[in-house]
Amino acid sequence: MAADPWDAAAILRRLNALALCTETPGEITRLFLTPAHRQAITLVASWMDQAGLSPTLDASGTLTGHLPAKNPDAPTLMLGSHIDTVRNAGRYDGCLGVALAIAVAAHVGPCRLPFHLDISAFGDEEGVRFPVTLTGSHAAAGSFSPDWLDAADAAGITLRQALTDFGLDPAALLAGSCTTNAAAYLEIHIEQGPVLEALDAPLGIVTAINGAERHDITVTGVAGHAGTVPMDQRRDALTAAAAMVLAIEAAARRHAHIVATVGRLEVSPAAANVIPGGATFTLDLRAPDDACRQAAAAEIFATLRDVAAVRQVTLTHRLRHVAPAVACDARLQAKLAAAVASQGLPVVHLPSGAGHDAMVMAKHCPMGMLFVRCLGGISHHPDEFVSEADVALALRVIVETLKQERVLF
Ligand code: HGY
Ligand code: MN
Ligand code: MN
Repeated sequence: MAADPWDAAAILRRLNALALCTETPGEITRLFLTPAHRQAITLVASWMDQAGLSPTLDASGTLTGHLPAKNPDAPTLMLGSHIDTVRNAGRYDGCLGVALAIAVAAHVGPCRLPFHLDISAFGDEEGVRFPVTLTGSHAAAGSFSPDWLDAADAAGITLRQALTDFGLDPAALLAGSCTTNAAAYLEIHIEQGPVLEALDAPLGIVTAINGAERHDITVTGVAGHAGTVPMDQRRDALTAAAAMVLAIEAAARRHAHIVATVGRLEVSPAAANVIPGGATFTLDLRAPDDACRQAAAAEIFATLRDVAAVRQVTLTHRLRHVAPAVACDARLQAKLAAAVASQGLPVVHLPSGAGHDAMVMAKHCPMGMLFVRCLGGISHHPDEFVSEADVALALRVIVETLKQERVLF
């Protein structure tokens, strides 16, 4: 029997090829609207073509393959995830969901489903290049904010300029050309956590996605000579920032369901013999409950102000991103659970600590997510791993889900 070009082994081979679309040979780093992203778009578009989908790139940089239903007036189901990565990433975060969805489309194509199928590869879920994030799914959901176009990357290139340089039209984006008519959204994604592995469950049905907020924080002290300024006369921005970072960690540890991360810290003028006059860092704060997150944020910033006062530095901060916690659609959860059970697998429901494009799409239409077990829960790391057997099960479950009568309505 001829090998299935859309089976789990083929999906993993494609993901190995996609991993080579990187700005850093030997690592996987694929930021939004970069040459590596362009390479990935070309490769994923070729997969869509092979699967019988007609790929189009929209003004927000999202690549979508379309599989029409028999009835032109039928509703649309969107399956999506992202193909951008963090720095030195794993090869499955986001990309597995896209490659698997294309394989699902190839398998169900001949069935002529009673709904159109859009398979979307979003280009900016991680928000690494620009201080905004989820811009592609916001464009699809009709919630893109015009001021995001002025967000600039580390080189001072604005999102507007980067889109234009990529051959895309920001005006079309603002005019709503990317808004989808999808009536429901499903995302397959690695769990990025240890729960499924601990339960020996290959797949999980997501119940909700934790809310998140991201801040840019700036501490301004006084630069000075490292050799001459007495310790009690310093206004050292870095030691003040360090005290703030540890205070953030302590505050998060005091709250059961809060996680807080300072992922980036930069010092100026960054010279060994100069007392730092400036320090900027990011704060990523998350919780299942938005009120808890907001209370924790208020507590944290009050503490940061206290540290600034004691150390005689100034503190400024800017909220760059907020994504409220969202619940996954109960009907879609039930459909996914029925499909998982039909394969004789344990039915596990769990929340997502990680953010996803699905949390934005949830504002636009009913949303569901299927998690795939990943080794050790490792993610945002080159050791990210999923097994071929689990990918095969995910493929079968999503095909079964789509074939269920009235999966959408
Ligand atoms: O940060 C997140 O949760 C996602 O990986 N962007
Ligand atoms: Mn990620
Ligand atoms: Mn992801």
